[in-house]
Amino acid sequence: MIEFKNVSMQFSDDRYAVQSVDLEIQKGEFFVLIGPSGSGKTTTLKMINRLISSTEGEIYIKGRTISDYDIYELRWDIGYVLQQIALFPHMTIEENIAVVPELKQWKRTETNQRVDELMFMVGLEPTTYRHRKPAELSGGQQQRVGVARALAADPEIVLMDEPFSALDPLTREKLQDDLLELQRRIQKTIVFVTHDMQEAMKLGDRICVMNEGKVVQVGRPEELIQHPVNPFVREFVSGAARHVDHQAFELTTISQPMPQEDLLGDEVVSIHATLEEVLSRLVEHEELVVEKDGERIGLITRQAVIQYLAGTSAERGETHE
Ligand SMILES: Nc1ncnc2c1ncn2[C@@H]1O[C@H](COP(=O)(O)OP(=O)(O)O)[C@@H](O)[C@H]1O
Ligand SMILES: [Mg+2]
Repeated sequence: MIEFKNVSMQFSDDRYAVQSVDLEIQKGEFFVLIGPSGSGKTTTLKMINRLISSTEGEIYIKGRTISDYDIYELRWDIGYVLQQIALFPHMTIEENIAVVPELKQWKRTETNQRVDELMFMVGLEPTTYRHRKPAELSGGQQQRVGVARALAADPEIVLMDEPFSALDPLTREKLQDDLLELQRRIQKTIVFVTHDMQEAMKLGDRICVMNEGKVVQVGRPEELIQHPVNPFVREFVSGAARHVDHQAFELTTISQPMPQEDLLGDEVVSIHATLEEVLSRLVEHEELVVEKDGERIGLITRQAVIQYLAGTSAERGETHE
């Protein structure tokens, strides 16, 4: 769907925002760009809809180089959600969502119907909210409007630049859950920027780790955990683990209880092990047996840890004794 071939963005004689990036993003994929501040994530994202021009290489959308597309069509046909809630303050919610359909000169009835549909989709009751101004909504609600606006003209591609990072943790988690649910239904190609590995693991089908303008590793969440290509990626992944650690990690919550006799011969880990320790052991072993007071009580798989890191509350609930 989106392809980068040896793409660079050089902003001075010897400095690159992005350097020699090769990427292939599949149709319907939730693709996450992650990296520290200044690693080139925003530049990579903005090159897709030509808000920033590359200085080398080519970007293709559906096999056509982006310079072949009419620049307005390209921007209108790609949804874009920013970190800074960027609604027009003087316009109503309805008008904010309808910006692109208006530009595309949709019929009024068609636009109205679409606004209703989108407001329902992102969890804002149309009759209550359509005539309000952005300032009358909470931060989380405003960001929902941002998502609705990006989806308004039914784009195949949606770009999201740290859309939830200005929100409080609870609102953020709710919006992540809703976005995942939405993505399952509408199957857009989403390129999502974050600097939070936990968020990346939760949302991404694949994650692209960037550092200093370069792609360090691209892979599914479990691949990054099992086979980090270098200490930088390993550190980033265990950073997510440390974050979880602080929230009182308990091995029992992610281990699958099993009778002793089914747990012979495998690698053993203590019930008191930290998540970081478990992660590093799981690089070499598919699964680990949990031992408590000298007794083997359960099994931990890579998948269970990944799901835990991803923070899907349903999974946690299920495995909780
Ligand atoms: N036009 C520019 N002039 C100077 N520096 C730039 C320009 N564009 C990007 N940069 C630099 O390139 C690097 C990557 O920026 P950016 O893509 O915004 O990173 P991120 O989104 O990962 O924080 C940063 O160091 C930024 O300061
Ligand atoms: Mg950025």
